[in-house]
Amino acid sequence: MKTLLFVILVGLSTQTSAMDVEQYLRKSGCFRCHSLDKQKYAPPFKKIAKEHASMMDNIAHIKKSLTTRPPIQVDGSDEDHVEIKVKDENELNEIVHWILNR
Ligand code: HEC
Repeated sequence: MKTLLFVILVGLSTQTSAMDVEQYLRKSGCFRCHSLDKQKYAPPFKKIAKEHASMMDNIAHIKKSLTTRPPIQVDGSDEDHVEIKVKDENELNEIVHWILNR
């Protein structure tokens, strides 16, 4: 019985700690410009994943894009990319891995 309880608790805790990245990006407004697989104002996440698949340092590259407000073009006008709000490095890592695995 104790073992069973332990298994259930471990199961629950891993479930609550894994963040729902897609939901998070929706809340953060990323889907205003990006979609999963269709070109909107920005390349879809699937395309971004593909383009970065064989790039060295792709994780660092995407992290930089999400934290340093690089210049972008949206519908013909110059803007800065949004900076993603995360509470720690782990969250940022999860998001970058989610993007790279689309
Ligand atoms: C105002 C529109 C807009 C919003 C909102 C937006 N993006 Fe982007 N994003 C772009 C555009 C445009 C590009 C393409 C930039 C380029 O290729 O020069 C881009 C590029 C990217 C890239 C590729 C960067 C690279 O290094 O090649 C990633 C990853 C990304 N966005 C993630 C996100 C995430 C995550 C969010 C939400 C926090 C977000 N974007 C919100 C417009 C937007």
